[in-house]
Amino acid sequence: MAKLPTVVVLNGPNLNMLGKREPTIYGRDTLADVETACRAHAKTLGLALDFRQSNHEGELVGWIQEARGKAAGLVINAAALTHTSVALLDALQAAEVPTIEVHLSNIYRREPFRHHSYISRAAVGVICGLGPRGYLMALDALAGMVKAKGKR
Ligand code: DQA
Repeated sequence: MAKLPTVVVLNGPNLNMLGKREPTIYGRDTLADVETACRAHAKTLGLALDFRQSNHEGELVGWIQEARGKAAGLVINAAALTHTSVALLDALQAAEVPTIEVHLSNIYRREPFRHHSYISRAAVGVICGLGPRGYLMALDALAGMVKAKGKR
């Protein structure tokens, strides 16, 4: 059987605390719930899923480098590193993998320091404010891109 295209979903610092962490902002779903929903959705889209979380910038950089030449797409919620990390931007630009940036909360309704994302420059699209559904929408978009690429 042909290998399914893989989408790598990366989650940054403190997202392991989802469900407990500021539920009025991030909701009650845990990261395990988000992963379960992503797995089910990826299956319906014919995608293999590699879902990871790290509190460490360097580990995320390593995973982005690993995706180069292997992954069909990347979904990244870089969490607080979104607003600070040139290293993640550089890694994403070097990876040359179609990337969608996701945030659970609407970062533009929040503190001004959350309004700037370093990594958006490397993203084909950004989804924010829609909670875990944003991850599923990112998978939909990447599945569409993979399909369109296959037709070329
Ligand atoms: C977040 C938004 C970031 O500003 C914040 O630091 C996070 C989560 C979100 O998913 O809404 O940790 O990326």
